[in-house]
Amino acid sequence: MADKGTFRILVTGGAGYIGSHAILALKDAGWRPVVIDNLTTGFRWAVPGDVPFVEGDIEDAPLLAKIIADHDIGAIMHFAGSIIVPESVENPLKYYHNNTAKSRALIEAAVTNGVKHFIFSSTAATYGVPEESPVREDTPTLPINPYGRSKLMTEYMLRDTAAAHDLNYCALRYFNVAGADPQGRSGQSTAGATHLIKVAVEAALGKRESVAIFGTDYDTPDGTGVRDYIHVNDLAAAHVKALEALIAAPQVCHTLNCGYGKGFSVLQVLDAVDRVTNQKIVRDVQGRRAGDPDSLISDNAAILERFGWLPQYDDLDLIVRHALAWERKLGDRT
Ligand code: UD1
Repeated sequence: MADKGTFRILVTGGAGYIGSHAILALKDAGWRPVVIDNLTTGFRWAVPGDVPFVEGDIEDAPLLAKIIADHDIGAIMHFAGSIIVPESVENPLKYYHNNTAKSRALIEAAVTNGVKHFIFSSTAATYGVPEESPVREDTPTLPINPYGRSKLMTEYMLRDTAAAHDLNYCALRYFNVAGADPQGRSGQSTAGATHLIKVAVEAALGKRESVAIFGTDYDTPDGTGVRDYIHVNDLAAAHVKALEALIAAPQVCHTLNCGYGKGFSVLQVLDAVDRVTNQKIVRDVQGRRAGDPDSLISDNAAILERFGWLPQYDDLDLIVRHALAWERKLGDRT
């Protein structure tokens, strides 16, 4: 195992939702993170005061070279990127720039400056409308929106780069990340966020009048979209497991689903929020949203087996409770 005392982890997008939770998980496990974030969507306050922070862009090659040298960076966790499916349909070039072109620059910085391990935030959106459910990692990847394609291209770049250079990687294909740190240290803070659970807890707290239900004619049991919601702390813990696996076996690369292997419909999620708050959110049935598949549920056997990852918060009501607690704490902050 690398020496946690000298070897630092560069976390891109560390001021964002998932990145800020990964920093907490790294610190809790004794690792020392360094953050680069351009603060277009992240928040400086989301990064703990004792974590070195650089405001800058991951495509700035001289800046990356300096950070890697100054902090003895041994691994990169790459969260920075754009994540909203419908926005990617309207503005694909933004996604091919932020997610694909900038990832290429970051991978090049890793290779050029001798960083040997790379962990990448990939997505279940790489599968598109999968032929099977739960979806396994070897299911054909046929993304149906630019967001999924922009991430899949980065998976290809990593695979080819790892074959040619001294670098191993883990691409974690996230399903629907939700919830907040149970200790209240971080949470989803983006104003105008589009994630279902975030939107629903905002409505429950009176920050929105209603929640839109995008489509009731999907090929699912109740006609609304089904997703595999995973608690952000379990996802963050999977990143620490991935880091340690990459260091332990430098010849091995991984592409793994990260979800619980269970699906909930939009209506089931809204019912969970009602249960937790003991009130009823106003539902506003609308048409389908562009780029949305019917159902996305992970087969998570591979990550459970390879990393010994043990989810701690596999409970929809608990995820909602933590999201709600964070939303209360956030108040009108953003
Ligand atoms: C999310 C992630 C994406 C990830 C993907 C993997 C976000 C913003 N995007 O996309 O990065 O790769 O999961 O599965 O988190 N819905 C409503 N009303 C709303 C919001 C959503 O009905 O106000 C529905 C959607 O149509 C969908 C489900 O709820 O069926 C989840 O939507 P959302 O939370 O936006 O996430 P995804 O689009 O699945």
